Amino acid sequence: MSSSNKYLNKKIFIAGHSGMVGSAILRNLESSGYKNIITRKHRELDLVQQDQVENFFFSEKPECVIIAAAKVGGILANNTYRAEFIYKNLMIEANLINAAYNSGVEKLIFLGSSCIYPKLAPQPLKEEYLLSDYLEFTNEPYAIAKIAGIKLCESYYRQYGTNFFSAMPTNLYGPFDNFNLETSHVLPALIRKFHEAKTPQAENNSVKLWGTGKPKREFLYVEDLAEAIRFLLENVEAKDLYEKGISQLNIGTGEDLTIRELAKIISEVVGFNGSIDYDDSKPDGTPRKLMDVSRIHNLGWKHSTSLKDGIEKTYNWFLENFKS
Ligand SMILES: NC(=O)c1ccc[n+]([C@@H]2O[C@H](COP(=O)([O-])OP(=O)(O)OC[C@H]3O[C@@H](n4cnc5c(N)ncnc54)[C@H](OP(=O)(O)O)[C@@H]3O)[C@@H](O)[C@H]2O)c1
Repeated sequence: MSSSNKYLNKKIFIAGHSGMVGSAILRNLESSGYKNIITRKHRELDLVQQDQVENFFFSEKPECVIIAAAKVGGILANNTYRAEFIYKNLMIEANLINAAYNSGVEKLIFLGSSCIYPKLAPQPLKEEYLLSDYLEFTNEPYAIAKIAGIKLCESYYRQYGTNFFSAMPTNLYGPFDNFNLETSHVLPALIRKFHEAKTPQAENNSVKLWGTGKPKREFLYVEDLAEAIRFLLENVEAKDLYEKGISQLNIGTGEDLTIRELAKIISEVVGFNGSIDYDDSKPDGTPRKLMDVSRIHNLGWKHSTSLKDGIEKTYNWFLENFKS
């Protein structure tokens, strides 16, 4: 790291450092020589509580903030706990962004996800499609809260000139992913299913997957996402988005594949040789979800981990760390 990096010694607060995304950002910054990172466990600082957040900012005075804290979950949780998803995420963002403004934070990066884009938006998803049509109903409360976070950052920039902006990652996977089959995303769920189906205790040598396997999805290794966040911290300013007429920046690979293709790669990495069956009576979901990443490419960042390498690393992490 060159000594010209003015952020290296800044006091940086990573909100949500214990999660999959926050922990990857923490590892990345620490291994890149950042020395002044501050973190708080959820039980020490509840970000939903405004007084706790304000006291923390005024006593610790962070200079930069990365918001990787959120109440997150799969479709079922999003659809069931709709009130909690909208309320908690709105409070976390509003408390952090307002306290950051009041205490003079120099730079803030807020993380959302691709669910902020309309359900039927054209593919690949361009930043400009924000608020151009209806959202997917199942995660609408979560998406509305994330859109509010984007607009909080933009509004504080437009009224107060703060250097606060938002980044929207595509589907992520990697170390510390959620491998609980009831609540996990597709990629970690497939790793676990194939792994369990190849053990001697498995009832049969086949795995059944929901839907036709034809929908296409994009996946980014979480350590590449962490690299992208460091790139944004060091090289991108709020005006680079807002003065170009966009409110948030996409982060992804710009490459997608079908769930069938994904299942094949994962079965090879895990060493599962049985049959993969598709239950096409179950719903497929959106046919395609791919981010347009030309803006972040033009700014100078591109992912570096291939899907196969990322899955191998994630499977090794699973073997070493996952206890069911
Ligand atoms: N995972 C993905 O595929 C993906 C894709 C795109 C975008 N993202 C975005 O990345 C961000 C982080 O996601 P993740 O997958 O890392 O989620 P995660 O593993 O569940 O981590 C969430 C973090 O937020 C903390 N947190 C939640 N509520 C809190 C509260 N009230 N006070 C303090 N801390 C609180 C959690 O702490 P506790 O666990 O102790 O509660 C945890 O550290 C989210 O904004 C999400 O939208 C994720």
